[in-house]
Amino acid sequence: MRDVLWPDSARRRDLVDRFVATSRAAGYREVVPPLLEDLGVFERVGEATDVVTKEMYEFTDRDGTRVALRPEMTAGVVRAFVQHKPLTPWKVFYAGTNFRHERPQKGRYRSFDQVGVEVLGADDPDLDVEVIALAWYFFEAIGLRQVTLLLNTLGEHDDRVRYSEAVASHFDAHRAELSEASLATLERNPLRLLDSKRREERSVIETAPKIAEFLSPSAAEHFARVKAGLDALGVPYRIDERLVRGLDYYRRTTFEFTADALDAAQNAIGGGGRYDGLAEDLGGKPTDGIGFALGVDRILLAAEAEGVLGEPESNLDVFVVDLTDGSQARDITHELRAAGLSADRRFGGGSMKAQMRSADRSGALYAVIVGEDEVAAAAVTLRRLRDHSDTAGDSAQQSVPRSELVARLAARSSETSQVRPDE
Ligand code: HAM
Repeated sequence: MRDVLWPDSARRRDLVDRFVATSRAAGYREVVPPLLEDLGVFERVGEATDVVTKEMYEFTDRDGTRVALRPEMTAGVVRAFVQHKPLTPWKVFYAGTNFRHERPQKGRYRSFDQVGVEVLGADDPDLDVEVIALAWYFFEAIGLRQVTLLLNTLGEHDDRVRYSEAVASHFDAHRAELSEASLATLERNPLRLLDSKRREERSVIETAPKIAEFLSPSAAEHFARVKAGLDALGVPYRIDERLVRGLDYYRRTTFEFTADALDAAQNAIGGGGRYDGLAEDLGGKPTDGIGFALGVDRILLAAEAEGVLGEPESNLDVFVVDLTDGSQARDITHELRAAGLSADRRFGGGSMKAQMRSADRSGALYAVIVGEDEVAAAAVTLRRLRDHSDTAGDSAQQSVPRSELVARLAARSSETSQVRPDE
């Protein structure tokens, strides 16, 4: 399991906040499903998938109920939809941690964060376009330039079944060319063979049947409208007929975003698609659904690789240096915070030198220095610690009447955020 410490935590927070703003602006509202629920909910992700069979953290709780930590959010969101029966279309977004027992490596963790959206109760292909474009323009807004959108359709339920059978018999006829592991995959989930990365299997994959030949007219029409919509919105995509995705619930549109700046093994920074059968599988009425999840950890790696997302800065306006008994620092930090400024101090006193070192380290824009002389004069010393647009025009050091300090600083301070894009 992973700890996220500052400054990574600041970048992560900023990214999630931006995603929240983007989703809200498109009419999505937040849903917060539980981290842990009945195992049966997550088994709907696909009994033949690695996520369920090999990677799930599952155990028996004190009541003897089989439960699991969520490996993804979609199953829990759809379970919540079935349970609460909200008005449709139900447009929701989420941000949260998921757990998969994978082999940890850069970009692949056992606890990882996703942000995403789901929409239940609308069949319109223009919704697929809205959902895909939301993710695409989110990547663009945070400055990622090297992202590829891979797009495919798996057809409707019956198309997918017929296609899967055809793919299975194709690979069955080429058993000799398949590895042990692929033979096992052939038994469990033949479609997954299509995205096998094994070099030796490339030619047998290339000659496999194509989904396009199995699409019903309505599935083909849906997909055509999705492509036309993406074209209209200027979202570039690449059709990838071998994109089957790692979860079983997908029908019709599927997509994945890859970051070209990352290593191929961990370059999927998000994915999603339609899952029109999932609500029914979870005990609800047949309901159309679509959504995506983006991997926060991987987006941050991609942003780092591309050199976007600014360096996190301190969010501190003021550090109070108190050379008396500490009561000045106690009162001034309180007053500054009440006025909407951010302020910190050192506890346990210390020499001027030691306190100024803490002030420098804190990253604050100003130090407010109070000693016995200042107290006697009902004033404080305001020292500019850093050059910044917020401190422009301020002299390096000045004496300010104690009674005017808070108002003076409040007027100076513009909005501060933890991460400021490079100016
Ligand atoms: P997924 O493809 O399993 O789909 O995961 C989505 C994204 O989560 C991946 O593209 C990746 O960026 C990130 N991710 C997955 N596993 C890890 C890991 N071990 N470490 C770091 N990042 C990881 C889903 O989860 C579906 N629920 C997406 C969806 C939503 N489909 C429809 N609605």
